[in-house]
Amino acid sequence: MPRKDNRSITGCGERRRHARRHGHMAAIDWFRVMLDRHEVKDRMINSDVHTWCATTGRRVLRGIGVSEGDAVADFGCREGRYTIPAARIVGRTGCVYAIDRQRESLNELKERARGYGLTNIRTIWADFLRKALPLRPASFDFVLLFDVLHGVFFPEAAQRIALLERVHEILKPGGRLAVYPTHAAKYGPSHKQLEIDIHQAGFREISRSRRRLLHDDRLVRGWVLVYKTRRLQRSSTEPAAHETR
Ligand SMILES: C[S@@+](CC[C@H](N)C(=O)[O-])C[C@H]1O[C@@H](n2cnc3c(N)ncnc32)[C@H](O)[C@@H]1O
Repeated sequence: MPRKDNRSITGCGERRRHARRHGHMAAIDWFRVMLDRHEVKDRMINSDVHTWCATTGRRVLRGIGVSEGDAVADFGCREGRYTIPAARIVGRTGCVYAIDRQRESLNELKERARGYGLTNIRTIWADFLRKALPLRPASFDFVLLFDVLHGVFFPEAAQRIALLERVHEILKPGGRLAVYPTHAAKYGPSHKQLEIDIHQAGFREISRSRRRLLHDDRLVRGWVLVYKTRRLQRSSTEPAAHETR
């Protein structure tokens, strides 16, 4: 949790005392080091992100069915706007695998997870389409594809279907996929086309709801579509063949 007492980090008294003792430049270096500390960074991320991480995010993910003990995979997690609330829901008996090809984002996510005291997040640095992912088939309860399945990253239907088939493969029988479709108007595909792709990869829709979501760093309203696997597959108990942290 961010500290309420600003004085202990940015406090002028402490900084002035340090400056008197070690000179002005040393004090500036010290201040930079303090700024790097998680509490300060965390307090500086905007208030929408805070509201989200503290309350709204958990409510939204619970509302679409993420539960304690679940194994969740967050494809395209970035810095974990959805990974963090998911990890807080699934608790110690569950886990969240956070996958992204941006190493810096994963590092940021790890730092945030540490700040929240979360030990149930595993990060995987990989390109979904290029690399075989170290995830066991039929081992996940929930997959999140939030703000990922659009024309910026997956302009071709064949790419989207390849990703969706991978997702299908790692879900347990009856496992669920939640999609937050974005940017359809600007980058495509249309919502209709996206639904066709998702169905083609073996999913059937079980719910759709309009929710308060975090898009980039802003709270917005958007649709979340939840699907179940249609094809049957054998289930496995361990989500990962091997872990990358
Ligand atoms: C717009 S961000 C969405 C982040 C997060 N899901 C959210 O809603 O806040 C999309 C993320 O997907 C990742 N991504 C896109 N294509 C990918 C690929 N082929 N392999 C791995 N990560 C990918 C990007 O690096 C980026 O971090």
